[in-house]
Amino acid sequence: MSKQTPIRRTTVPQIAARKGGEPIVSLTSYHAHTAAIVDNYADFILVGDSLGMVMHGMESTVGVPLDLMIMHGKAVVRGTKKALIVVDMPFGSYEESPSVAFRNAAKIMKETGCGAVKLEGGKRMAETIHFLVERGIPVMAHIGLTPQSSHVMGGFKTQGRDEAGWDAIIEDAKAVAEAGAFSVVVEGVVEPLAAKITKSCPIPTIGIGASADCDGQILVLEDMLGLNEWTPKFVKVYGDLGPAIERAVAAYADDVKSRAFPSEDEVYR
Ligand code: KIV
Repeated sequence: MSKQTPIRRTTVPQIAARKGGEPIVSLTSYHAHTAAIVDNYADFILVGDSLGMVMHGMESTVGVPLDLMIMHGKAVVRGTKKALIVVDMPFGSYEESPSVAFRNAAKIMKETGCGAVKLEGGKRMAETIHFLVERGIPVMAHIGLTPQSSHVMGGFKTQGRDEAGWDAIIEDAKAVAEAGAFSVVVEGVVEPLAAKITKSCPIPTIGIGASADCDGQILVLEDMLGLNEWTPKFVKVYGDLGPAIERAVAAYADDVKSRAFPSEDEVYR
């Protein structure tokens, strides 16, 4: 009988237990290679449907198909050993009914080997979150700016600028926690509101363009690496991958043009 080394990944209860504790570190990743690097530092890695825009040049996340999420989810699971892997449920794969959501969430979990799924929506998704969690699917919720609803919201707009809208977003956080979500992404919400949600919500809040007071933070990896031409204002850019790749490609092109390549003799000697 073969003996397998157990892989000890961060678990869903371990993330849930970090409420009010050591800040949770998370990033997105869409492929095995970057995921292997992120795995050394992140508590969880999100295979976000932002991959549609970041990797596939789409204008929004609305067009991202389920199979694409599964393909990238598999790659990230294969490239990692430690972090909890959360895969986004794409637009159209869960809103129709709790049973449609279950079928697609189960497919994501079975085919990728991820540990949890994420879906967008607060109060309106509470019944579905409860249905999934009761049936063994851990759910991370996502409230505030929910990119899959950008057509309804009129673009990617910060939420809660008008204090009159605060209660609805606070209610969303409460509803997803009561439904059994183990954590909630709070995206694009004014700072004092995100801090207030974090104080009142019993599950960890993961901020993105929200507040340093959240229980954890997430960024899109390519944004913080400086790979994208445009990054949202709130993103602190830690790398200069875009210019670095450009320099490398330009140097390669120069070498090709000036025939500055090692000869076959040198390579295979
Ligand atoms: O799709 C994504 O990358 C996300 C994060 C921005 C939270 O949902």
